[in-house]
Amino acid sequence: MKTSVAIYPGSFDPVTNGHLDLIERGEKMFDRLIVAVLKNLEKEPMFSVAERVEMLREVTKKWDCVEVDVFEGLLVDYARHRGASVILRGIRAISDYEYELQMALMNRKLEPRLETVFMLPSEAYSYLSAKIVRELAQLGGPLTGLVPAIVEQRLRAKVS
Ligand code: PNS
Repeated sequence: MKTSVAIYPGSFDPVTNGHLDLIERGEKMFDRLIVAVLKNLEKEPMFSVAERVEMLREVTKKWDCVEVDVFEGLLVDYARHRGASVILRGIRAISDYEYELQMALMNRKLEPRLETVFMLPSEAYSYLSAKIVRELAQLGGPLTGLVPAIVEQRLRAKVS
């Protein structure tokens, strides 16, 4: 029997309720879902990779088939290494589409056997992004309902 392994890659700086919504949908659809945090040496993140992984592990621990990992380099190489056949990405609004299309087609050119699957998070999170969450936290805005409680605590601690 075929086992579907999907990778949900991203920066997750930090994980938001929008990401979690997508993980929950992906968890129902695939046998195994690997949430893969990109180790990007160019970006200046708010949280270290270790902190992001720790938060992700905490908020996904209820799902047995969800794993949190770190990758660097090309996503297609990582997917090959992990035996994944699907890349899962979320599209919130039409503004996401162009970037996602470019990435999906480039990944297809690099590895034609790897399929990108797009899912829509709940419309309640269509305006939500990790960038907006970081900005809100820095400016002391409300975070309830946007991120899990442990992420809210980490954000508050980070900016205090
Ligand atoms: O959460 P993000 O920042 O939108 O995620 C972007 C990510 C990590 C999916 C993307 O930058 C990526 O896959 N980087 C790995 C490098 C790579 O494979 N690049 C070529 C594909 S276009």
